[in-house]
Amino acid sequence: MNKPNTSTSSRRGFLRTAVTSAAVSAGAVAGSAQAAQSCSVSGGDILGPFYRPNASMAAASVIELASASEKGTHITLTGRILRPDCKTPVANAVVDVWQANAQGMYDVKTPDEVIAPANYNLRGQARTNANGEFTINTVVPGKYKIPPGLENFEKFEGYLRPAHVHLTVTHPVYLPLTTQLYFTGDSQIAKDPWAKYSKHMVKMSKDKGSFELVLGNTPPHKA
Ligand SMILES: [Fe+2]
Repeated sequence: MNKPNTSTSSRRGFLRTAVTSAAVSAGAVAGSAQAAQSCSVSGGDILGPFYRPNASMAAASVIELASASEKGTHITLTGRILRPDCKTPVANAVVDVWQANAQGMYDVKTPDEVIAPANYNLRGQARTNANGEFTINTVVPGKYKIPPGLENFEKFEGYLRPAHVHLTVTHPVYLPLTTQLYFTGDSQIAKDPWAKYSKHMVKMSKDKGSFELVLGNTPPHKA
């Protein structure tokens, strides 16, 4: 299992957008705009029509999303889930991941198609380990055009989506996160209605990429 780079410098470049008020205060005191921008809750993205619940749960924190025989370029993505302070790992968060294959096809041809969980492909779940980490062994997702007839996606019919990996992150304490990972350098990102607003870019180094996601706080408890 490949562990993500957890150095301070690498963290700053990851997936952080909305700055918390606490971070703004700390940054102002320190006089460092970069420090203020470095802590943010990860932004959401659309769930999309191809989500399927009940994907298999990995025994460890490694999701073998693609089998060895899956066609395409095999890659390893390592993720880390953090508390809203952007530094404390969240253990036992459930990460649910799904994507299209290298040809841009999901394991169902339409959102209404029903398949048994045993026939799921390129879908899987895992819990983060004590360091908030998890690993996805997969292939580079193919780009696909949004098909016609998708409810609420009619006006986007024919849009070519950049390569992306869907995921949700849930934990009893923090706000659930639904988002997508994109790949730095994908020329389709700037044209995509969703990706162009996303900060969730994974920069690949050969066949490996890392990312961090920061969960938001739920409203404070009132006695
Ligand atoms: Fe998708």
